[in-house]
Formats: sequence, structure tokens, C-alpha cells
Amino acid sequence: MIERVILSNFRNFSIFKSDFERVNIIKGRNGAGKTNLLEAIYFSLNGHPFSRNLKGIIKHGTEQASISSQFSSEAIHITVFKDRKILKLNGKPVRVIDLKKKFPCVDYSINSFISFKSKDYLFSLIDRGVFAKNERIVEWLLEYKRLLATKRKLLKKENIDKVALDVLNEKLKHTVESISNIRKRLVSSIEDCVANCFNSFTSKSLRVEYVVGKVRDGFNEELIKRRVLVSLKKDSLKISMDGLDLFMFSSVGEKKVALLCIVLAIVKLYNENGRLPVFIVDDLEGDLDSGTQKKAFKTIIELPNQVFITTLGAYSGFNTIELDGGSLV
Ligand SMILES: Nc1ncnc2c1ncn2[C@@H]1O[C@H](COP(=O)(O)OP(=O)(O)OP(=O)(O)O)[C@@H](O)[C@H]1O
Ligand SMILES: [Mg+2]
Repeated sequence: MIERVILSNFRNFSIFKSDFERVNIIKGRNGAGKTNLLEAIYFSLNGHPFSRNLKGIIKHGTEQASISSQFSSEAIHITVFKDRKILKLNGKPVRVIDLKKKFPCVDYSINSFISFKSKDYLFSLIDRGVFAKNERIVEWLLEYKRLLATKRKLLKKENIDKVALDVLNEKLKHTVESISNIRKRLVSSIEDCVANCFNSFTSKSLRVEYVVGKVRDGFNEELIKRRVLVSLKKDSLKISMDGLDLFMFSSVGEKKVALLCIVLAIVKLYNENGRLPVFIVDDLEGDLDSGTQKKAFKTIIELPNQVFITTLGAYSGFNTIELDGGSLV
């Protein structure tokens, strides 16, 4: 459990300190810093902010930001400069991957879901689900990134080394297939859980399906276009409500509930595997009718996990952190 966070010059916060309990409600008006506080918690547990990009992290007009967190007996300290960050665990340098392995965390972000980046967000959720059962996915993803980077360099060269490219392509194809297949299995394994959850909120049905993109002879085309075309980006997560594409044919509230059910399924996977991820929930309450709002809240707080949930005012009780726009608290 993350027990305390101290921020300095992080986004809108000059200096901020807060102690946490198992259920934490982050309350404040628009722009008070609710999402920013969640991002600081997320950063502590993942070693990077929501977008992985450090832009905008340091408070405007200052030079460096820091986040100090206490997670049970472990101390996480992050210093952020304009173009780099220093991650420390108990005073020693630590890698992003080691933080992620040690401090599992699942985040509900309707903005990421709806925005054009939803594919990245959904894939990262799926990968967290895979990771809950099989930590090797991390090595595969790192290998995939390495292969892509090498290939990009190769394709940029004037005289392409075809033999090296063939070897690389073979490896890449194998890695992409392995990741796609393991993601597909994961999505099949949570499909019923997601459908049942959605059914408990509405009479409509929800299906999720991982669709593996076609590789075909993209490798030849890559040689002509000189850029990478065969990648995991060809895959997609098909989400349908009553048989229709959720992104095209559903209301905001329905999307919110659908995402909640997907995220809950991932949290439960972790829980079944004996790890209790920190659950971060941003912007769930708006656009939901009061019955749905209450049910969603009840479902979340009944989990055994530590949860952080933002509110404009509808949720109360529990440990409430009131934000007033980032001044000293
Ligand atoms: N680097 C920064 N320096 C100063 N202020 C920043 C920085 N980055 C973000 N902010 C400000 O932080 C404020 C709070 O943003 P945040 O998204 O956390 O609000 P919120 O409480 O989640 O609001 P909402 O209810 O609308 O979701 C915004 O007004 C934003 O302009
Ligand atoms: Mg917000």
C-alpha cells in the first residue's frame, strides 16, 4: 500500500504532502489537481508519467520536480529534470521495469480510452493483464522494441543489408506473433467476466475480442516505403455493444461502464494471482446516472485493493484528500 506522497514542483503543486489509506477519495473542483495527483502516484509505481513523456511534469517556471513516496517499508524517490529523470528505490538507482514488477498498478482513464491514443492505453491494459499471469511478456515487449529500433535504422541506410534484414524480420515476426497470441488468449480469458460485469449494469451485451493484424508480405512493401509496416499496431481490440462497435455506437456513460468492466477484469486477474495492484480511477463519476455512479463506486471500494478515486463531490466518506488548486496542503 502506498502510504504517503510528497511532491515538489510537480505539475500544479509547489509543495504537497498527503497520507493515504486503503480507499482514498481525491476531491476538488475542475483544475484543482486531481488528475495530477493520480499521475504522481502512477509515476511512483511505474517510473514514468501517464504519457511516458516528461513534458509538462515540472511546475511551470521551475527547474526540477520531485516525488517521494512511501510504499509499505519501501521509499521511492523520483527527480525530474527537463529532459531526464532519476529513479531511486530505498536510495539506490532502480529501473522502470523493476518498479513496475514490484509495484503493480492498474489505471482507469476514460480520457485515454476515448482519445486517439486509446490503442496504446488498451494494449497497455491488456499487457498488464498478461503480466499478472506471466511476467515474461515484459522481456518480449522489450525485445520487440529493440528489434523495431534496429530495423528502423537498417531501413534508413542507403544500401540495405538484405541478409541482416531477413534475419531481423524472422525474429520480429516471431516476437509479434508471440505477443499477439498471448494477448489474444488473455482477452478470451476475461471476455465472460467483462460481459457479466457489463450485464450487471445494463441489459445490453458487451463483447471484447483481440483481433490479430495480418502480416502478409508487408516486409516487401517496407523495402519500397523504407519504413516499418509490420508491427503490433496492426492488432486491435474489438469492443462491441449489442453487436455494434462501442466507439461508434455508444453513449459516454456506456463507454465509461464498458471500460470499468475491462479494467476490473484486469484487476481481478492480478488479485487471483496473489498480487493486489494499486487501482487508480480518474473521472469515472461524471456522465453516469446516480444509480450507475453508486454501483460503480460500491464495486470499486469492495475490492481488496488500495484505490484512489477522483470526485467532483459525489463520492464521500473514507479518506478524502481535498485539493484546493495546488497550494500548500
Ligand atoms: N507543469 C505545470 N505547471 C503548472 N500547472 C500545471 C502544469 N501542468 C498542469 N498544470 C495545471 O494543473 C491544473 C490541474 O490539472 P488537473 O488535470 O489535475 O485538474 P483536475 O482536478 O483533474 O480537473 P478536472 O476535474 O477538470 O479533471 C490545471 O489547471 C493545469 O493547467
Ligand atoms: Mg482530472
